[in-house]
Amino acid sequence: MPEGVQLWNDRPYETIRLKRIAGALGAEIEGADLSKPLTDALYGEIYQAFLENQVIFFRDQDLTPAQFLAFAKRWGDIHLHPYMTGLDDYPEVLELVKTETDTYAFGSSWHSDQMFAPKPAKCTMLLAREIPPAGGDTMFADMYGAYDALSDGMKAMLAPIKALNSGDKKRAGGGSSRAERYSGAQKMKLKDPGPIQTDSVHPIVRTHPDTGRKGLYLGSHTQHLDGLTVEESAPILSYLRTHCRRPELTCRFRWQPASLAIWDNRCVQHYAINDYQGYRRRMHRITIKGEDAPF
Ligand SMILES: [Fe+2]
Repeated sequence: MPEGVQLWNDRPYETIRLKRIAGALGAEIEGADLSKPLTDALYGEIYQAFLENQVIFFRDQDLTPAQFLAFAKRWGDIHLHPYMTGLDDYPEVLELVKTETDTYAFGSSWHSDQMFAPKPAKCTMLLAREIPPAGGDTMFADMYGAYDALSDGMKAMLAPIKALNSGDKKRAGGGSSRAERYSGAQKMKLKDPGPIQTDSVHPIVRTHPDTGRKGLYLGSHTQHLDGLTVEESAPILSYLRTHCRRPELTCRFRWQPASLAIWDNRCVQHYAINDYQGYRRRMHRITIKGEDAPF
């Protein structure tokens, strides 16, 4: 831990109760009703738990879209998705639906949200509305831990390297374009991103602005290392992708209706598991704006 970083691991929280769900990252929080305005003290504890655990979970938060949006605004300005349209009355809230007949599931690859944007989303809030009887879990990977576990030689090699991240090209290693991927998902309407930048170069090791910790920063949007070809980049990216997915670096969350997850895209990758064919899953999502580059 860098000097000057103050975390609260050595003292109990006063309002919330916290239960870690894995060794690497992730904690469930009890003792907070998010439908009501948060006091500064309660918000401070929740934010500290978020920094310490990278992804936090709440149960039984059956928030209306208005309540969900009010809670989200406590965290910062809302990051609007360049491609996707929100609810009619609440354009800040995206509805992610996989119906009984859809085969494509949004987010079913390891990624960090909107890495393709010049200013990617700081954090993502996902509130479950309808959940299949089994399956549809989300996995998270600890990118601090992934960085820490690299050799000193690899850390030194990666230190100056940046990578190109794309929002709509056919992704490196195969796959389809965004329009092709969503063609079966009738509920998720695409909009023209217009002049918004959807290709961005970011460092492959980024420093978290709140904790000062370094983490790997790559995901399925990552196409190649800046200044190297796709082919030259492939062995390094392939190694890093596999490295980040080691079970020891992950946690897995089992949703219930009204469960809420908040993850930190600056130090976490996530993966929505597409294993509930024939069942419906419906989620509401809000993303919070990130900081200016460089990271
Ligand atoms: Fe995502």
